[in-house]
Amino acid sequence: MKNAVSSFIGVAAVLLGASAVTASAQTVTGDARMGAQRAAMCSGCHGISGLRNAYPEVFHFPKIGNQYPEYIVAALQAYRSGERTHPTMRAIASSLTDQAMADLAAFYGQGGLRSTTAAGK
Ligand code: HEC
Repeated sequence: MKNAVSSFIGVAAVLLGASAVTASAQTVTGDARMGAQRAAMCSGCHGISGLRNAYPEVFHFPKIGNQYPEYIVAALQAYRSGERTHPTMRAIASSLTDQAMADLAAFYGQGGLRSTTAAGK
């Protein structure tokens, strides 16, 4: 199972690398439509209503579809800065731009999991 996760991260890294541009410190406005596309790289671990979660029971993946956008951005920035130390999310967040984070937050904040009961973390 570790291998499966590793190869998924590899795929995600390629996807992220393709869209990585210089991060800006300015406040950016998220585009939920862009976020929906970007979220394809997250949904393998963070299940979205209507999409199959690759590892629904094996790992403890927090549901992020019911979070406030501000929380999602803050969490991603904390992973990128190293404030949060989870290796997987650090690897992912380190290649996300501020714009990408805002887009993802807008998408998830709009209720990527709207039809699913919030189960907390
Ligand atoms: C390989 C699996 C995997 C992928 C892919 C993944 N995540 Fe995560 N994510 C995790 C795990 C595991 C955690 C819990 C980490 C921890 O305990 O700090 C997490 C935590 C988070 C959190 C913090 C949630 C909270 O409640 O504090 C956010 C936000 C998040 N991920 C967003 C994303 C976004 C956005 C993407 C896509 C760009 C993504 N993740 C891709 C596995 C993944």
